Amino acid sequence: MNITVIGTGYVGLIQGLCLADVGHNVTCVDIDEMKIERLRQGVSPIYEPGIDELIRKTTASGRLRFADTADGLRSLLGDVVFVAVGTPMAATGAADLSYVRTVIEQIAESADHDLIVVMKSTVPPGTGRSLVRRLLSSASVKIGYVSNPEFLREGRAIEDWYKADRIVLGSDDADALRTVAGLYKSIEAPLVATDVASAETIKYASNAFLATKISFINEMANVSDCVGANIDDVSRGVGLDSRIGPQFLRAGIGYGGSCFPKDVRALDFISAIHGYHFELLKAVIEVNSRQRLLPLIALSREFGTLADRTVAVLGLSFKPETDDVRDSPALDIIPILLEEGAEVRVYDPLAVRAPLGRAVRTEDVWTALDGAGAAVVVTEWSELIGLDWARVAGMMSEPKVIYDGRNALDADAVRAAGLKYMAVGRDGVHRDRL
Ligand code: UDX
Repeated sequence: MNITVIGTGYVGLIQGLCLADVGHNVTCVDIDEMKIERLRQGVSPIYEPGIDELIRKTTASGRLRFADTADGLRSLLGDVVFVAVGTPMAATGAADLSYVRTVIEQIAESADHDLIVVMKSTVPPGTGRSLVRRLLSSASVKIGYVSNPEFLREGRAIEDWYKADRIVLGSDDADALRTVAGLYKSIEAPLVATDVASAETIKYASNAFLATKISFINEMANVSDCVGANIDDVSRGVGLDSRIGPQFLRAGIGYGGSCFPKDVRALDFISAIHGYHFELLKAVIEVNSRQRLLPLIALSREFGTLADRTVAVLGLSFKPETDDVRDSPALDIIPILLEEGAEVRVYDPLAVRAPLGRAVRTEDVWTALDGAGAAVVVTEWSELIGLDWARVAGMMSEPKVIYDGRNALDADAVRAAGLKYMAVGRDGVHRDRL
């Protein structure tokens, strides 16, 4: 069976590589000719642990090839076609489905044999049914449709693919569903076989629930500040309840990335379109926006004014082990610091492309910290967690504030070095404000 994966972003590339790795013949397709050329040379467009080796291995096996769409899609369409193109957030908060629609239209127009379309892109509930009705049913050949949402975390995408918690397949076509399930037969994971709308909803519900967990623990961190509790102990005590579980209970300056912010907003939008006011989700979004401001509030209070203060922003990516800066809290924090008149130095071990305005990007963490009155840890990179705090203290200027936006540092070690430690719900730093 020949498989085509359209879109070589995070989702599509990992999907194509892993399917080839477990033994399928895969063609990874993209409209970006340059990207395809680089992939042919073994250069990955994304940073992901293990990806270079996987590209090398699967290409060498002869089961994986890369192709651009310059000559159209017809000759590239296999028996199963995964669609993994972007669904960015539109200005309204809705998911922008223009890339998905274009690809589906092209498949419907160019298919010259029966095939199955598998939707990997995150599309709002109802999309699959509408695509089938409006675009696929008019094709001259039989095109089955299966929704197959992805749950891969950036930085652990390959590992997550092999050790999936579940495989979700939604279709009204039992044969198509069975065929796609067969592609995953080497993965030991429960299969959730359902209809298209339910599969689409599972994806949004999963991300919305995890985002809710984060915003909940962030609210608890703020309350902990008020009542003098320590959120680390609260999280541990709560997470040990097996009905709740310990994951996604780490308080901090909120979630970012390519999925949570976009998907939560899109679910809110789709609810509103159907006349439903998703109260809880609105609060999740609001809490997350507010958390990002906490370091700025703490520093403003500490300094009186941020004008002419030097602040080091440590970490740009939305989480460690990725160069992805999409919706990273750093991109909200930096412009506000600049607006307030601070001199901003930014260091990240990896993130390469980001709009930094007047902020200065430094090549190493020490240049960022040299003479800074405060440092905000935005991303819990291990390099930053493991800093030599005595050396940091020796380089910074008074009042030598370390704002730990991820509650990831050893607070005692930071304090012992003579630095002023601030965090989220760990030490009452926001008590007076809340
Ligand atoms: C997420 C989902 O986990 C994945 O299933 C989905 O397919 C894509 O979106 P990802 O965006 O890679 O994956 O990041 P994830 O590791 O889930 O973290 C998301 C954000 O939440 C990060 O900004 C992280 O810092 C934050 N987070 C996570 C917290 O603030 N606290 C936590 O306890 C956990």
